[in-house]
Amino acid sequence: MRQSSLINSGKKRVSSILPSELDSGRLPDHIAIIMDGNGRWAKGRGLPRSIGHKQGVEALKKTLRLCDDWGISALTVYAFSTENWSRPGEEVSFLLTLFEHVLQKELESLIEEQVKINFLGDIGVLPDKLKELMKKAIDSTQGNKGIRFNVCTNYGGRRELVFAAKKLALKAVNGELDPNLIDEEIFSNELFTAKETDPDLLIRTSGENRLSNFLLWQLAYSEIHITNVLWPDFDANALKKALLDYQSRLRRFGGV
Ligand code: IPE
Ligand code: IPE
Ligand code: MG
Repeated sequence: MRQSSLINSGKKRVSSILPSELDSGRLPDHIAIIMDGNGRWAKGRGLPRSIGHKQGVEALKKTLRLCDDWGISALTVYAFSTENWSRPGEEVSFLLTLFEHVLQKELESLIEEQVKINFLGDIGVLPDKLKELMKKAIDSTQGNKGIRFNVCTNYGGRRELVFAAKKLALKAVNGELDPNLIDEEIFSNELFTAKETDPDLLIRTSGENRLSNFLLWQLAYSEIHITNVLWPDFDANALKKALLDYQSRLRRFGGV
C-alpha cells in the first residue's frame, strides 16, 4: 500500500491501514458517493441545516483520506445537483459560500497530498469567485499522481447527456464528425467524465433508494451500496461496510 508521509495543517498525517477483513486485491478502483442526509443529521440535533452541511465537509475530508490510504484510485462525490437550486435561496448561498471557503482552506493540503482535483458539472453559471478557485484547484493539482477527486458541482446526469448530444451535433453540422461514426466511446468522450473510468461502487447515505440524477451514464454497471448512515456520520467503519458489501458481489456485466 502507498504510504503517505504527508503534511496536513503543519502536522504529519497518520495514514490509515486497510482493515484486515478487506481483500486489498479486490477493492473498487473508483468509488462514487451521493453524500445525503446533512439536513436530517442537523434536524435530529435541533441544529440548523447549515451545521449539517459543515459537518458533511468534515466527513468528506475524512473519506477522501481514507480512500487514498486504502488504495482507491478515484473518488467522485455529488456536492450540488442541478435540482438543488430549488432549495431556499439562503441554503443555496450558504452551500456555494461553503464550497468557496473549504476550497480556499484545503487547497494547500490537497496539493501536498498529491490529490488530483476536478469539478464536474455545469460550472459556467457558478459565482465568479468560486469558478476562479475551481480553476486554480484544477490547474495546481493537474500533475498530481495521487487519488483523483472529482467533485460534482451543479451536476445533473440529464444535463450532462444533453450537453454531450449538443456538442456532437455541432461537430456534425460543422463537418468535423460523421454521425454514423458515433459510438459509445465517442459519446462518452463528450461527458464531463471524459478521461475518467466508470465508478465500480456507488454509495448513497441516508437510506434513500434513488439516483437523484447522478452519473446516469457512468453508473450503468456499478455496484450499489445504500446505507442508513447520514452523511455527516459516515466514517471508516461505514466505508469498511460498503467495501465488504462490494467484495461480496459477483459482477457479471451481463454474462453468466
Ligand atoms: C446532502 O444533504 C447535501 C446536499 C444535497 C447539498 P441534504 O441537504 O440533502 O440533507 P437531507 O437529505 O435534507 O437530510
Ligand atoms: C442528491 O441529494 C444531491 C446531492 C447529494 C448533492 P438530494 O438530497 O438533493 O436528493 P433528493 O432530493 O433526496 O432526491
Ligand atoms: Mg437530501
